[in-house]
Amino acid sequence: MKLTLVVATDKNFGIGLNGDMLFYISDDLKKFKALTMNNIVIMGRRTFEALPNSKELPNRTNIVLTRNKLDLKEGIAVSSIDELKNKLEEINPNKEKEEFLIGGGNLVNTLWNYIDKAIITIADKEYKEVDTHIPNLLEDKNFEIVSESEEFFDNKNQLKYKFYEFKRRV
Ligand SMILES: NC(=O)c1ccc[n+]([C@@H]2O[C@H](COP(=O)([O-])OP(=O)(O)OC[C@H]3O[C@@H](n4cnc5c(N)ncnc54)[C@H](OP(=O)(O)O)[C@@H]3O)[C@@H](O)[C@H]2O)c1
Repeated sequence: MKLTLVVATDKNFGIGLNGDMLFYISDDLKKFKALTMNNIVIMGRRTFEALPNSKELPNRTNIVLTRNKLDLKEGIAVSSIDELKNKLEEINPNKEKEEFLIGGGNLVNTLWNYIDKAIITIADKEYKEVDTHIPNLLEDKNFEIVSESEEFFDNKNQLKYKFYEFKRRV
């Protein structure tokens, strides 16, 4: 299993507070949509519940990890990492679709060793109130930066941000 992580973080790799994201940058959401469209998105149950109306992301295969019963209309619920691996083998045997891990903190920490690539939007701000983090990719020697965008500015949030791509070192 080789996953591509895609999340938006603050300077300290914070990703959430009280079940919500720290910020919503329109261009970042567009990029997320373009990347994941027609592919597979894997998420923890809390992240699923934070999606608009707690509904699956359209035109993508949604896989939600939970140890409890979860009724999904179109998505697939799995209850362990082994079940996730088996399901991915079953539905994507030739790896034609990219397998994106889209959060949250709990699941990203659990699946860290399976992450091969990370597409991260980093905002140039330290949020004071944060309750969910991912590991610091800039300090993880197992990862290297493949690309770093110019700095953009989001008017709505008054926020500077950059797009990064990391790859696990071989
Ligand atoms: N900034 C971003 O890009 C971004 C992206 C995604 C999420 N977020 C934020 O992250 C926060 C949510 O993250 P979180 O860490 O609280 O929760 P999470 O990782 O989304 O979900 C955790 C849940 O996933 C299930 N789970 C985790 N590991 C499992 C395993 N090995 N086997 C079976 N089920 C497993 C469990 O569900 P059950 O309790 O049902 O068993 C667990 O409670 C929110 O604030 C959200 O807005 C931010």
